[in-house]
Amino acid sequence: MRFETAAIHSEGGPCPATGAIVTPIYQTSTFVFEDIGKTKGYDYSRTANPTRKALEDTIAALEGGKAGSAFATGMAAETTVMHLLQQGDHVISQEDLYGGTYRLFENVMRNFGLEFTFVRMDDRDEIEAAIRPNTRMIWIETISNPLLNVVDIGMVADIAKKRGLITVADNTLPSPYLVRPLEYGIDLVVHSTTKYLNGHCDVVGGAVVTANDELGERVRFLSNAMGTCASPFDCWLVLRGIKTLPVRMMQHDKNASVIAAFLERHPKVKNVYYPGLKSHPHYKLAKKQMKGSGGMVSFEIIGGAKAVKSFLRRVKVFSLAESLGGVDSLVEHPATMSHASMRESFRKKVGITEDLIRLSIGLENIDDLKEDLGQALKRA
Ligand SMILES: Cc1ncc(COP(=O)(O)O)c(C=O)c1O
Repeated sequence: MRFETAAIHSEGGPCPATGAIVTPIYQTSTFVFEDIGKTKGYDYSRTANPTRKALEDTIAALEGGKAGSAFATGMAAETTVMHLLQQGDHVISQEDLYGGTYRLFENVMRNFGLEFTFVRMDDRDEIEAAIRPNTRMIWIETISNPLLNVVDIGMVADIAKKRGLITVADNTLPSPYLVRPLEYGIDLVVHSTTKYLNGHCDVVGGAVVTANDELGERVRFLSNAMGTCASPFDCWLVLRGIKTLPVRMMQHDKNASVIAAFLERHPKVKNVYYPGLKSHPHYKLAKKQMKGSGGMVSFEIIGGAKAVKSFLRRVKVFSLAESLGGVDSLVEHPATMSHASMRESFRKKVGITEDLIRLSIGLENIDDLKEDLGQALKRA
């Protein structure tokens, strides 16, 4: 099945009991045994649930992977994946990383004896130089949050394969519609399904898709043992969202391209970060690796803290809110919101400045979005 068809038809066909075209919400904690040791395939919803399975199969199909697992949040998915490692293991990740992932690594997983090095993920020499005898994993974001750097996935997979390291790609920002990391040799894909996969700002969720069954089994074991799985209702919402992922992604991309070009021309704007702009350092890589440039645009405003505050207070169509990837356009200030948990000195080193503003471009009329940013910038 092609992507658009798989997004609609991977959940397993009509309900065998009633013919319902949509997978029902199996809102049950437990399943009755037919006899001692004999079930219909399910025994307890922490271990497996039919609505969750429909979502897991769908995300696995979209990522071109072997096995999918759905989690309560993106962070629950990430926490579960980190438990593939053991005390004393070393992880290489990138400097410009979602703030919550950085916090999980630095403030939680370090306490359990894991070690981390953060590198510029576009520099092969820097990645190779960071490898130690105890390195076990390389963790990337396919498009980084919030600076929207594009990582050369094949290059990272190649480095890791030569040394037997596990690779994890957080594919939240592009979604599998724009790029499928497993095709480049990545071992595990992680998602915050809260974002584009669900797409409607009405659920938090996460997912992991693995390149092989063995890793899939290990993730499933951890999910059951740690209890990090998603609820049936949340899975149902994400499943419903996924059916329109292809059309939504095309429109997010179209709107974001117009906004990025508009901002680049604006006199109150310093730097615009959008992989679809020729000025972006990874423009050529993005064109080669992805089917589009995505729906996120970041930029720096001229005028310091006063301009930032004034802009954020003046936007009307854009809502000041964390998160991204929904039909609603959102605006946020990484330094005080999504990346506030990152050490200030580290944020500075990475380039997440106090003037940086991140936009999640939604599906409203493009003229309304442009006019809204225009009026807020004019008076900022
Ligand atoms: C790139 C990325 N990964 C992971 C997460 C965490 O996902 P969740 O908020 O669903 O726990 C986020 C949340 O913003 C994100 O932007």
